[in-house]
Amino acid sequence: MCGIVGYAGHRPAVPLVVEELHRLEYRGYDSAGVACVQQGAFRVVKAEGKLNALEMKLSTEPPATATTGMGHTRWATHGAPCERNAHPHLSNSAKLALVHNGIIENYLEIKNELTAKGYVFHSETDTEVLVNLIEDCHKSEPDLMKAFSMALCKAHGAYAICLMSIEEPDVFYAARMSAPLILGVGTGENFVASDIPAFLPYTRRVVFLENGEMARVDKSSFRVCRIADLSPVEHSIETIEWDVQSAQKGGYRHFMLKEIFEQPDILRDSMTGRVSASRDSVRLHELDDFPVPARLTIVACGTSSHAGMWGRHILESMARVPVQVEIASEYRYKERLLFSKDEMVLVISQSGETADTLAALRRARECGAAVIGLCNVVGSSIAREADRVLYTQAGPEISVASTKAMCSQMLVLTLMALYWGARKGTVSGGEIAAVVQDILSLPEMLHKELPGMHEKAKMLSRKYSQAKNFFYLGRGHCYPLALEGALKLKELSYIHAEGYAAGEMKHGPIALVDSVFPAFAICPDDALLPKVKSNIVEVQARQGKVIALTNPGVDLPAEDVWVVPKVNSLMAGFVILPALQLFSYEMADYLGKDVDQPRNLAKSVTVE
Ligand code: F6R
Repeated sequence: MCGIVGYAGHRPAVPLVVEELHRLEYRGYDSAGVACVQQGAFRVVKAEGKLNALEMKLSTEPPATATTGMGHTRWATHGAPCERNAHPHLSNSAKLALVHNGIIENYLEIKNELTAKGYVFHSETDTEVLVNLIEDCHKSEPDLMKAFSMALCKAHGAYAICLMSIEEPDVFYAARMSAPLILGVGTGENFVASDIPAFLPYTRRVVFLENGEMARVDKSSFRVCRIADLSPVEHSIETIEWDVQSAQKGGYRHFMLKEIFEQPDILRDSMTGRVSASRDSVRLHELDDFPVPARLTIVACGTSSHAGMWGRHILESMARVPVQVEIASEYRYKERLLFSKDEMVLVISQSGETADTLAALRRARECGAAVIGLCNVVGSSIAREADRVLYTQAGPEISVASTKAMCSQMLVLTLMALYWGARKGTVSGGEIAAVVQDILSLPEMLHKELPGMHEKAKMLSRKYSQAKNFFYLGRGHCYPLALEGALKLKELSYIHAEGYAAGEMKHGPIALVDSVFPAFAICPDDALLPKVKSNIVEVQARQGKVIALTNPGVDLPAEDVWVVPKVNSLMAGFVILPALQLFSYEMADYLGKDVDQPRNLAKSVTVE
């Protein structure tokens, strides 16, 4: 997730912009750059790697005196993480410079049009295409605000943008569509940034730009209007009370809670560019030149392996690809890896650096299997060593316990199932459209529901906080979610918890149940509901208390019934998952545990 900052004021802009970028470092990045207009020309300095590499470069240059400037930290999406692809990007005439967060979906189409007109490109980015599109519009439209709007009306996708021109060295322009961008309103100085902490030491007064809005900003004024028709928009200025640290957490108590609440946006953003306009087909260009596997082995660790187990259900039912899921630490030492023709391996890893998963990837490749990587961190070892890589685009996950990464992995697995299913002819356009519709309805519904779910989790955690043990029960696609619920509870609150396939309880584990050994039963209103209901009765018959997570209208004999909205199909998992996460979060917080950094755990397990 890139970070954008823009400044117009009375202070030297370049050091201020770099300082602001430091406060956005938590977003993660792989290169950085700054721009300002100095003696009638753009001065752009960029560097691969962390901000200290950029600072080293800046220290060898004469100091810039400009008091307007912009900066960017880049998390690679189009093109490798290198200096050439780092932002800001200049237009061909070097009169415009642009920093951008997001994806311009139709950039290839625009690039071809511009190439035909004689434009040349020096990077692989969609950003360089966009800045030249603005330049092209500016040739026929002298008002830059209008030219900017014309270009944005042609570009489809998600973006937050800051634009500067040598014609107005003390002004910056900003625009937002489905990516965060906030104006900071100071005295004799104004700011724009992807997140409030960037400018918080200078001003607490902010304007939240809405999707489809753009702004022209100088040191003493700002003007906001709609991109589509340039009609003016009046925003009230709000005052932020948070300090920098809590602002980085978006006002949430912990990064984990923030990341749980980010999931609706991740679902929406991860669909961008991956579904056709008619919504009845899925685009995964990364896999276009790869055959559909005859069999698939999914290899991962921890939460990522639970995502894989969940994905197995959807891949088998939609793409009809037989799937086996293996734990990486076991798989890497299997004596003999046998692959049949057209069998493939999919390794799933948020960090892309997990030692066991990386070793499993290497082992599979040595044995001749083609490996697809499903990663969150661009340029990570697994992303680099896999034959093909799909990115989850969840943005950096800071809390050690994985939450939003699993949600994004489940989403990409769903898209893979639809994509392969379409190629094999096992799902129709109508079936794809139905699943896509289910997914697209989730962000709005989750935004609405999550606060209430959080309250319920709070209430239940108080009631069950004395428990020393917990069972998590589920069937079918809810079994991997039960495993994940148990993992979250034990790693965060240190309460012993086990996930079980609900029907397996009677084969031994039920011996443990008594009045102080509760169970968390996942029982959405689907075909397996009557079966899970019987399992709840079995627990209750042994005085075990049950929390039943279910849907409206379901009558269950449980101590506590937690009702969440019903979602058709396997997509119900996207509502169940945050409920499990919130319950564990609240339990750990109530018990005074270190939620974001549980004991003995590391975010990236790079040792065996
Ligand atoms: C649990 C958790 C871990 C990771 C596991 C794999 O909350 O975060 O179980 O899922 O260490 O990590 P990645 O996905 O980075 O390979």
